[in-house]
Amino acid sequence: MPGLSGEGHTDDPHRGGLWFGGDYNPEQWDAATWAEDDELMRRARVNTATVGVFSWSLLEPQEGTFEFGWLDDALDRLHAGGVRVVLATPTASPPPWFTLAYPDAMPVRPDGTRLWHGSRDTYCAAAPAYRRAARRIAGELGRRYADHPALALWHVHNEYGTMCWCDHAAAAFRSWLRGRYGDPAGNGRASQDSKASLAALNEAWGTAFWSQRYSSWDQVLPPRATQYLGNPGQELDFRRFWSDELLAAYLEQRDVLHAHAPRVPVTTNFMGPDHLVVDPWSWGREVDIVAVDHYLPTAEPEAGHADIAFVSDWARGAGRGRPWLLMEQAPSTVVDAGVLVHRAPGRMLADSLGYVARGADGVLFFQWRASRAGAEMYHPALVPHAGPDTRVFREAVGLGEALERIAEVAGSTVTADAVVLVDAASRWALENRGLPSPHVRHLDVARAAHAALWRSGVGCDIAAPSADLSRYRLVVVPAVYLLSEEAAASLRAYAAGGGQLAVTFCSGIADQWHRIRGGGYPGALRDILGIRIEELHPLQPGASVPLTLAEAAPGGARPSPRGEAGQLTGRVWAERLRAEGADVLAAYAAGALAGLPAVTRHAFGAGTAWYLSTLLVADDLTAVLRGIAAAAGILPAGALPGVRVTRRRDGRGRSWLCAVSHSAATVTLPAVGLDLITGREVSGAVDLPPGGIAVIRESAPKKLRMTVLSMIGTPLSQIEPM
Ligand code: GAL
Repeated sequence: MPGLSGEGHTDDPHRGGLWFGGDYNPEQWDAATWAEDDELMRRARVNTATVGVFSWSLLEPQEGTFEFGWLDDALDRLHAGGVRVVLATPTASPPPWFTLAYPDAMPVRPDGTRLWHGSRDTYCAAAPAYRRAARRIAGELGRRYADHPALALWHVHNEYGTMCWCDHAAAAFRSWLRGRYGDPAGNGRASQDSKASLAALNEAWGTAFWSQRYSSWDQVLPPRATQYLGNPGQELDFRRFWSDELLAAYLEQRDVLHAHAPRVPVTTNFMGPDHLVVDPWSWGREVDIVAVDHYLPTAEPEAGHADIAFVSDWARGAGRGRPWLLMEQAPSTVVDAGVLVHRAPGRMLADSLGYVARGADGVLFFQWRASRAGAEMYHPALVPHAGPDTRVFREAVGLGEALERIAEVAGSTVTADAVVLVDAASRWALENRGLPSPHVRHLDVARAAHAALWRSGVGCDIAAPSADLSRYRLVVVPAVYLLSEEAAASLRAYAAGGGQLAVTFCSGIADQWHRIRGGGYPGALRDILGIRIEELHPLQPGASVPLTLAEAAPGGARPSPRGEAGQLTGRVWAERLRAEGADVLAAYAAGALAGLPAVTRHAFGAGTAWYLSTLLVADDLTAVLRGIAAAAGILPAGALPGVRVTRRRDGRGRSWLCAVSHSAATVTLPAVGLDLITGREVSGAVDLPPGGIAVIRESAPKKLRMTVLSMIGTPLSQIEPM
């Protein structure tokens, strides 16, 4: 599968380096502005422009009539300036003529409201007319630009994620369900297969409850608005269906583009994990490079860097370790409670480095130039409304320079000894109403566990429960609520084979159809964990529960954030848990569960299975997971206070130490090599100022590198000068 270096037809001088630039919409501007764009892109060392994302109504102003002249000019102009083009298919925003010609292809909400054009993402991807029109415009673009020298990557659509509850969706859903439940032909006739598959669906969805038994396939509908709680199995399958249906729509376009331009890679930009409607693990196999949009949710430095690390590790996981592309980020602001908040000066560079440190081969932005009109006219851009004489544009120039200096890291990869499992179906199922608590979100728990390892300096991958886990020393299972037999068997084999398995509450409770596994929670993992849970005791928002830590607990007896030795604090969730073979490492210290186990450890085969029945507060979770990582023999890649260190390696024995500081003080980082940012040799240590970054091409012999590596995990006071 092609990656970013060396594919496409562009022969620009930056080829093979890190990609820098963003969404560029020349159709919104006049010729004088284009000339300024050329000059400013050169100044900022922009080498990549994403073009045409929302251009359908200009490219095809009437059905079947195409106008490519302006796009030809834009691509030629960009190519002349040495800027590679990521060319989008514009199918996320059909033109107004499309609505009037095909009203049945407009999306319908669960309550039956049909939507109109006037915004974007207004289509039903299961409607045949939409699919036809999307294939046609993709084919026209493929034919016209396959050989354009600027073309480096196809960008299909934008952030696939529009669901619809209309009759087209209903028909497609039924046909998908027939395939899933054993009648792949799904021909609508009352065949044996059809009866058996309907019986399987009734069983999977538990339709004996509330008189929902289906006696013929045409009764099966999308989960439309109902009187009260819907059917959890139906809702979950509808989410899975849409992920697959949108994937089918993507694949049609991808295949058209590949047919026209076999050497040009194809991708689509995923929304960040919290907003994603599709399953990143199945989609990740179908894109030539994973591309992700990430809009930081906070301006606070530490939480922001933790979020960048989480999303980066997740993106890398979707591409099974290969370099990936940050397709969109906002240059200077985040939106907090509807209010634009500026990130501190310098963050554009430090944050961008955060992605590169974890495997990104490019950092692109939405967007190049701030629009003067339209729904997102106040969205920040590399060239703000105030023009280039601005802090933001100067920071963009600085970032462009830095990315050029570290260009040689492109193509190298990041590996980790620990993995956090993330599962789209568990996330969707936990969003159902009618569960014990609406406050348990799979991604919140995954993020908390990932952040705890991040704070400990433990490098971390993120992978699907079905991934091959054998190479990891530590596997964290954070509220992976649904587990299939196969996934449970994989975890069992992992622990039995000598792995350290850390499981949190709300994992393995239900099967893949969202049916509870009986005999005590967590049905799929009881024997591995050596525990049995009788009752779930979720906590109210803001409530917490104290835990008393046993001496043998990971992290040891240590002062809690509240200063009491040997105490931990849990929130969100608790459980009435019985140890059935497991050692109790911490017990509930108050309330209805006082004296009962809260954190346990169980020897299982050659490995160990740990269980955390509550969401420990950040410091406590960090101490516990750091202890478990130590038990797994993991050497932190870097745990200096306020500085995160990762290492990228290529296949030729070269490595780069990447450090990003969110510390308020200067921190001394042990390293040996050449700091590519400053161009200075580093012979033992480099000082990182507050918010500073470093990318060091390591040159020390392997033994010395190992020493430096282990020193990074050592408290500074204990490091001998070299
Ligand atoms: C993204 C989208 C862009 C732009 C951006 C604004 O999700 O792909 O087109 O709308 O959000 O933050």
